[in-house]
Amino acid sequence: MKIAVVGTGYVGLVTGTCLAETGNQVICVDINEKKVKMMQDGQLPIYEPGLELLFHRNIKQERLHFTSNLAEAIAEAKIIFLALPTPPGGDGSADLSYVLGAAKDIAKLITDYKVIVTKSTVPVGTADKVTAVMNANTTIEFAVVSNPEFLREGVAVEDFMKPDRVVVGTKDERARKLMAELYAPYVRQGNPVIFMDERSSELTKYAANSFLATKISFMNEIANLCELVGADVDMVRRGIGADNRIGKRFLFSGIGYGGSCFPKDVQALAKSSEENKYNFRILNSVMEVNEIQKKVLVEKVKKYYKGDIKGKKFAMWGLAFKPETDDIREAPALYIIDELLAAGAEVSAFDPEAMKNVEALFGDKIKYAADQYEAIDGADALLIVTEWSLFRTPDFDQMDSLLKEKVIFDGRNLYDLDKMIDCGYYYNSIGRKE
Ligand code: UGA
Repeated sequence: MKIAVVGTGYVGLVTGTCLAETGNQVICVDINEKKVKMMQDGQLPIYEPGLELLFHRNIKQERLHFTSNLAEAIAEAKIIFLALPTPPGGDGSADLSYVLGAAKDIAKLITDYKVIVTKSTVPVGTADKVTAVMNANTTIEFAVVSNPEFLREGVAVEDFMKPDRVVVGTKDERARKLMAELYAPYVRQGNPVIFMDERSSELTKYAANSFLATKISFMNEIANLCELVGADVDMVRRGIGADNRIGKRFLFSGIGYGGSCFPKDVQALAKSSEENKYNFRILNSVMEVNEIQKKVLVEKVKKYYKGDIKGKKFAMWGLAFKPETDDIREAPALYIIDELLAAGAEVSAFDPEAMKNVEALFGDKIKYAADQYEAIDGADALLIVTEWSLFRTPDFDQMDSLLKEKVIFDGRNLYDLDKMIDCGYYYNSIGRKE
């Protein structure tokens, strides 16, 4: 099938590449000419495990193409995916100007039936808005379909190639058939393509992310309570996660959720509830808890040093909002660095992928170590911020010799509590005994 993908951000690039992998002809289009040139030259602008292999393979086999010319991209495409940004506007609701702008441009260009798919996370009612914009600019037949993405950064390729489910919102029979055909190779194990109306599909995306964020904030509150009552959140997590109705996944307490999705989507759902005169009480608490949780690690540090960390040197392991990505959007690390610097402390950081992005923000205000051991060399304490596998089994002998003092603040509960005590560490983690 011939496909166009408008927008080559994270979602667009993964979608385009993975659609090419099953034999479709895909043209990705972006207004950023420099980026298009880079991709035409075979350079991948993002880090995502497994993507590079597929990207090169499909370019080589001439199934994956890049252009900055929208007309060229959509001329022969049957399905046009919109994977454009929907940043939060000033009031927290999603800004649809990119999506609606593209719809208008596409409408003016089409000469035969097209399926326009919104892949971006868009508020309920967006498919209707896109339809209205298109109708105002063309008399050619088309269908607007909502097809939210549920990819996780770091495992996006796997999630795309073997999705738990695909959600497709459309009332157009022709579009439904095309979408079923397109996704058939990805759901061969029997996972469902769930068809529904556009509005339910749009809300499904927000509901999924908000529910997951709720699980995290709930566990973070349990963790805070654990510390007060002398319980261990990892035990409680295992205890409740064994109940199938609750499930094992997404119950890890930490230093708050970050990234480009959860904070934005929870806020947007709260906002759209408000616009519909509905007070979504739980969501407001989920956001409040997350704001507090981002501060937990720094509070622990300040408490340990009795409020005075001026001149102290802190090592930070991990900067990305989660492992296997270079993404630092809404990363707790940014808040932590800000707070430590504001209090007059020094920071020496290491992250396997996200250093460049942090350097672009903080410049020489912090030090960037070549590896995790260089980061702790001469540090008063270590802060663990992102749970990269690399940090799970460090060489403790080497650590002992490099750290000025055996003090660790662990925002991700990487180590066994008893082992750390046996090794003589002051080890302060989340929701467990100090
Ligand atoms: C999330 C969803 O998981 C995807 O299904 C969705 O498609 C995506 O948003 C999106 O809307 O595009 P992502 O933001 O890549 O994916 O990352 P997650 O792995 O979901 O983690 C989000 C945040 O939650 C991270 O900050 C992570 O540290 C935190 N988290 C996750 C926890 O604190 N505890 C957990 O148990 C799980």
